[in-house]
Amino acid sequence: MKRIVILISGRGSNMEAIVQACAAEGWPARVAAVISNRPDAAGLAFARERGIAAVAVDHKRFDDREAFDAELASVIEGFQPDVLVLAGFMRILTDGFVQRFAGRMVNVHPSLLPAFPGLHTHRRAIESGCKLAGATVHFVTPALDHGPIIAQAAVPVLPGDTEASLSARVLAREHVMYPRAVRWLVQDQLRVDGDVVMHTAGESQLL
Ligand code: GAR
Repeated sequence: MKRIVILISGRGSNMEAIVQACAAEGWPARVAAVISNRPDAAGLAFARERGIAAVAVDHKRFDDREAFDAELASVIEGFQPDVLVLAGFMRILTDGFVQRFAGRMVNVHPSLLPAFPGLHTHRRAIESGCKLAGATVHFVTPALDHGPIIAQAAVPVLPGDTEASLSARVLAREHVMYPRAVRWLVQDQLRVDGDVVMHTAGESQLL
C-alpha cells in the first residue's frame, strides 16, 4: 500500500477528488494525511470526516520560510509518504524542501505550462486573447510552477468568459486529471526521461 500525503491551503476540491477516486477505484494506496498551512482551510474538515489525519501547520507561526518548511517537512515525514501531492497549496517552497521530496512531489497548476506560471492565470489567459486554457500536473522542481509535465487538460476560452467562468471550466477538468495522474504515480506507470514524462502503457496524458 502506497501512502499519499496531500497539502492544501483552502477549499481542497482537488484533494476531495483524489480521496474519492482512491477509494472508488481501489488504488493500491491510501491517503495517509491532509496537511494545510491555514488552520481554517475547509478541506481539513472533509479529511477529518473521512477519518484521514488532518493537520494544520500554520505558516504565520514561523519567522521565515526555512523554519516553516523544516517543520512542514518533519510533519510530512511522520506520515512516510510515497507520494506528496500539492493540491491548491499556495506557498512557495524552499529549494531544500523540494530536493527532499524530489521525484515524489507533484503539483496542479491552473494553466497550460509553461504559459502563465504564478498567480491570476485565468485572468492573464483571457487578457492575452488565448483561445485555449487549461491546467497542468507536473513534478515539482525548485523553479516555481515548472517541472516535468505528467498531464495537461485543455479547455476552450469562450467569448465573454470571465475569470470565474473560465476557472470553473478548468477546475472541472482538474478534478478528472489530477486523480488520474496520482493513480499513475502510485501504480508506478510513469517513466521520466529528462523533462519528458511518458505513461508506460500509453494512456493519454492529454485530457
Ligand atoms: C486549483 O485550481 C489549482 O489548480 C490551483 O488552486 C486551485 C485549488 O483549488 N493551484 C494553484 O494555483 C497553484 N499554483 P482546490 O483547493 O479546490 O483544489
